[in-house]
Amino acid sequence: MTATLVVWAHPEPGSFTAAWARRSVEAAARMGAVATSDLYAMRFDPAERAELYGHTGPFDALKVQEAAAAAGRLPPDLSAELAKIRAADLVVLHFPIWWFGPPAMLKGWVDRALVHGALHRVEERFDAGPCRGKRVLFCVSTGCTAAECGPDGREGDLALQLWPLAHAFRYCGFEVLEPVRVHEVHGYHEAEALPAVETRLGAVLDGQADLLAGLDARAVWASNPGTDFDSEGRLRPEAAEFSPFIRHA
Ligand SMILES: Cc1cc2nc3c(=O)[nH]c(=O)nc-3n(C[C@H](O)[C@H](O)[C@H](O)COP(=O)(O)O)c2cc1C
Repeated sequence: MTATLVVWAHPEPGSFTAAWARRSVEAAARMGAVATSDLYAMRFDPAERAELYGHTGPFDALKVQEAAAAAGRLPPDLSAELAKIRAADLVVLHFPIWWFGPPAMLKGWVDRALVHGALHRVEERFDAGPCRGKRVLFCVSTGCTAAECGPDGREGDLALQLWPLAHAFRYCGFEVLEPVRVHEVHGYHEAEALPAVETRLGAVLDGQADLLAGLDARAVWASNPGTDFDSEGRLRPEAAEFSPFIRHA
């Protein structure tokens, strides 16, 4: 049995992203417990700030999150998200690429819901993160073609656009699975192309149950383990490079 949290960030319930997320919810329900965070429908507040904590004086977000978590006085929306993340073995995130990264709504959820002091601490991060043993899967749609967001594409490498989000989850100790990417999702297809587009996207929706059921065989998105870094946090000369984000200087 797998406990799954499905999170999606899309303002339109009729969108491909929302339909895809609903398929994940249905599939996850067959694998065990499932929780959901439909961020726009929940009117999740993505802008972390003092007033949400009733905090006065200078706002140090990490310290305020940490103190509130320790005192059991997190804002109610964060307590709820934190409980869902803690209960989950698997977190599935559904979102479109907006300006070469996740929509601000999802970034804001990450800023707030990956609570400092609860899901990461100064002494407990990356390999030692409190979320060790949990997995995260990104299900991403792009308007551009696979070629355009490939390593040499004019839109820039989608793997790099997703890298900061992946690293946020790694920071908390998650294992990040190879993302699922669906390209050329947009409303500008010519009428004669629409049946083929619907067939293609329908196959993605219909395949989601098998995809989630087969996650044990899905590749992990490799990154450097803590032992690859020296005491100053620099990549050791003999360590492998997995991304231009962490490379030999
Ligand atoms: C504000 C905004 C920015 C976008 N930026 C990108 C982008 O950087 N790269 C890309 O491939 N598509 C981009 N798109 C297109 C969306 O990724 C695409 O329409 C979406 O994945 C389609 O899925 P949906 O039908 O669920 O919205 C953007 C769309 C919006 C609204």
